Amino acid sequence: MEKRNSITKTFGILTAGGDCPGLNAAIRGVCRAAQDRYNMNIVGIANGYRGLIDEEWRILRPSDVYGILTRGGTILGASREKPFKTIVGETEIVGEKVAAIRENYRKLQLDCLVVLGGNGTNTTGYLLAQEGLNVLGLPKTIDNDIAGTDRTFGFDSALSIATEAIDRLHSTAQSHNRIMVIEIMGHKVGWLALYAGVAGGGDVILIPEIPYDIKVIGRHLGERAASGRAFSIVVVAEGALSTAEFKMDKKDRKKYREQTVQPSIAYRVAREIEAETGMETRATVLGYVQRGGIPSASDRVLATSLGTFAAELLAKGEYGKMVALSGDTITAVDLSVPAGKVKAVPRDHYMVDTAVSVGTCMGSEAYPIP
Ligand code: F6P
Repeated sequence: MEKRNSITKTFGILTAGGDCPGLNAAIRGVCRAAQDRYNMNIVGIANGYRGLIDEEWRILRPSDVYGILTRGGTILGASREKPFKTIVGETEIVGEKVAAIRENYRKLQLDCLVVLGGNGTNTTGYLLAQEGLNVLGLPKTIDNDIAGTDRTFGFDSALSIATEAIDRLHSTAQSHNRIMVIEIMGHKVGWLALYAGVAGGGDVILIPEIPYDIKVIGRHLGERAASGRAFSIVVVAEGALSTAEFKMDKKDRKKYREQTVQPSIAYRVAREIEAETGMETRATVLGYVQRGGIPSASDRVLATSLGTFAAELLAKGEYGKMVALSGDTITAVDLSVPAGKVKAVPRDHYMVDTAVSVGTCMGSEAYPIP
């Protein structure tokens, strides 16, 4: 293929934050389009921003991205390094890591840094852009909580895994007439728990955005039992909280959760349900299974489209943006849009109404909205 002109000659690429299915598909999308169409040089940075500080990188050749479309994880490695927030012992050394990143960016003669990650990664990307670096972001996370994009890659794969787990819990819950509490990832937001709960027909769904009242849950489970369904599935997001916790200030809430969220929220909710209803209750924590393994077809498509679009922006020299999905279109938003934000489930989101409409309890008196 004859190569087209490109403003970007050389760029670095890294994956930061928690991994998720689809990262390799996105890396492949960016790299193949950038190399096949534009002949760009690519430096693969190891382990997120840490690699750019510790000088761990390698040249990525076309063959490095062969066969990775379906592979889980990330061939580049990831870390939760936050260069703008650094505390060593008692000392905050803000600046040193950022200086190292700036220095290595220059040393590698990069025209742009492509960062694949969640809120933290794109926020760091924005801050680096403020420091004068050319940066492009791609939105990945199973949490689907990045502002500026309708969907993040990783979410759909995790949704399938979580839904299958709920399906499997259903049959054993029914056999034993038990309440099964399943904990789904999502410290700050409940997108995954809400979608998996609806897909799996959860009887109760608890998300951080809607504080729960155990009395409301107990009443719902009691009514189900009275109507002949003595088993129930309770889907709980990691960050779900009670109405009492919601009213506490941040410090008190943290302390209270340290004492009561043991070993994790699913177990606390299970204990609360048993105490409230007397029904036999079990807890299951799905954990990192949700982030592992091959990406779904939908995530492969999304990650590939976002990746190839990023290559087009590189070719045009359009930096300082995050590639995004808007409706049915791939687009780009300014990096300031996701920076410092978390996209939570709006209380009036149609999926909350969908859940309530099929008889799911959201754990709150306020739902259904009168
Ligand atoms: O990527 C986000 C996430 O999946 C959250 O839902 C979860 O709380 C977090 O990762 C945990 O990941 P780690 O242990 O890697 O920090």
